[in-house]
Amino acid sequence: MLNFNRTRSQPRSTRSMSLGGMDYVDPKRKGNFVGKVFLAAALTALCIIMIKRSPSLNPPSPFSIREPGVTHVLVTGGAGYIGSHATLRLLRENYRVTIVDNLSRGNLGAVRVLQELFPEPGRLQFIYADLGDKESVNKIFLENKFDAVMHFAAVAYVGESTLDPLKYYHNITSNTLLVLESMAKYGVKTLIYSSTCATYGEPEKMPIIEITEQKPINPYGKAKKMAEDIIFDFSKNSKMAVMILRYFNVIGSDPEGRLGEAPRPELREHGRISGACFDAARGITTGLKVRGTDYKTPDGTCIRDYIDVTDLVDAHVKALEKAQPGKVGIYNVGTGKGRSVKEFVNACKKATGVDIKVDYLPRRPGDYAEVYSDPSKINRELNWTAQYTDLEKSLQVAWKWQKSHRNGYGILSAI
Ligand SMILES: NC(=O)c1ccc[n+]([C@@H]2O[C@H](COP(=O)([O-])OP(=O)(O)OC[C@H]3O[C@@H](n4cnc5c(N)ncnc54)[C@H](O)[C@@H]3O)[C@@H](O)[C@H]2O)c1
Ligand SMILES: *[C@@H]1O[C@H](CO)[C@@H](O)[C@H](O)[C@H]1NC(C)=O
Ligand SMILES: *[C@@H]1O[C@H](CO)[C@@H](O)[C@H](O)[C@H]1NC(C)=O
Ligand SMILES: *[C@@H]1O[C@H](CO)[C@@H](O)[C@H](O)[C@H]1NC(C)=O
Repeated sequence: MLNFNRTRSQPRSTRSMSLGGMDYVDPKRKGNFVGKVFLAAALTALCIIMIKRSPSLNPPSPFSIREPGVTHVLVTGGAGYIGSHATLRLLRENYRVTIVDNLSRGNLGAVRVLQELFPEPGRLQFIYADLGDKESVNKIFLENKFDAVMHFAAVAYVGESTLDPLKYYHNITSNTLLVLESMAKYGVKTLIYSSTCATYGEPEKMPIIEITEQKPINPYGKAKKMAEDIIFDFSKNSKMAVMILRYFNVIGSDPEGRLGEAPRPELREHGRISGACFDAARGITTGLKVRGTDYKTPDGTCIRDYIDVTDLVDAHVKALEKAQPGKVGIYNVGTGKGRSVKEFVNACKKATGVDIKVDYLPRRPGDYAEVYSDPSKINRELNWTAQYTDLEKSLQVAWKWQKSHRNGYGILSAI
């Protein structure tokens, strides 16, 4: 206690001594001096604020003007896993990007990484805002000139959606409606929408093609399908260029190790299989729980289609380039190849070098046996094919980031 007090008071008196050039501190004179310094500082601050506010002295932000040859993309949810990877790719291809995210699930650390990579003015702007707030969204569209929107922001865990469905209809369906209204109001003509294979539910016939009937079986899939329907109906009477991408199970991370997947620890229980494998490999959890070994599949475990995030963002750029006014393109984004959970776990063991303990448990309700895509439409129409189809390699890349980021994006991830 005493010690603490002494060390605190010491530097203060030395400072006033060196400032005033005095041997001892006269409290009255010190107050006077500090007062003057404070007044001068306040006046300077006021001047700076006035200069900053004066429009004639401040050039308009590059984000608020349309520049020939520059495509300005609004990336909602750009602090999240897929949105941050998409932003990196867009910036590398010389797009101008504005990220809007309220960091409820994303990481400011990811935005920092991107800002450090592209510090030049007019490249990347981050706006902290909630897409459920109509006024904020309108203000963002009023103050910025977007050419296109990639709408990633959402809540995205099937399990959580069954526990808190309203959160899903609110943050997926209703927020998409607000974004669409602002786009219409401010004449933004291109939309790339993040949809999901969960909108199909459990079709009888595999692989899934784009015209497979959509019968979602959980609030997450339903909320996404409703958002798709809204977009689709709206587009019938507008000149908007729309691409709806239905992703399968996304894995992997930036091959150069700059970005990774860092969901909130409190979402661990709802997490996806890759996160669960890595947590087990790191000893954060005691092992991996595989639910269901009696499905009608070759090894009894569920089959999914795992798509590497690098391929996924490539599909977004191609969709953006090929979007046509007045048209809606709907595409599955997957590898076309199903992998069982057992295969996935084995790949994860090899990629991490850890002999992860696996517990086999009974089925979890709501899981379907087999889901994989037929990606031939996107291949034909957008000339896109998955390139990163080696599960073990994708997981190796992701694991490398996980290992060197034990706390995700660290302290920066919280605001
Ligand atoms: N990860 C997958 O396997 C997968 C599969 C299919 C579809 N998708 C879709 O891809 C998109 C991105 O998913 P992700 O895995 O990157 O998720 P994520 O949680 O990492 O990213 C979502 C981002 O949106 C932000 N956000 C959420 N609500 C917001 C709001 N109201 N206002 C502002 N920002 C908000 C979050 O803060 C977060 O940064 C989602 O639309 C998801 O449904 C993901
Ligand atoms: C994010 O947005 C939601 C509404 O979608 C809001 O309730 C929540 O408080 C926001 N979170 C933060 C951290 O601002
Ligand atoms: C989603 O919406 C609910 C309101 O239904 C809100 O409380 C919540 O904070 C929102 N955002 C997220 C990320 O859950
Ligand atoms: C399709 O993509 C491949 C490789 O990605 C490229 O070599 C080829 O030129 C593309 N074809 C067309 C028609 O654009």
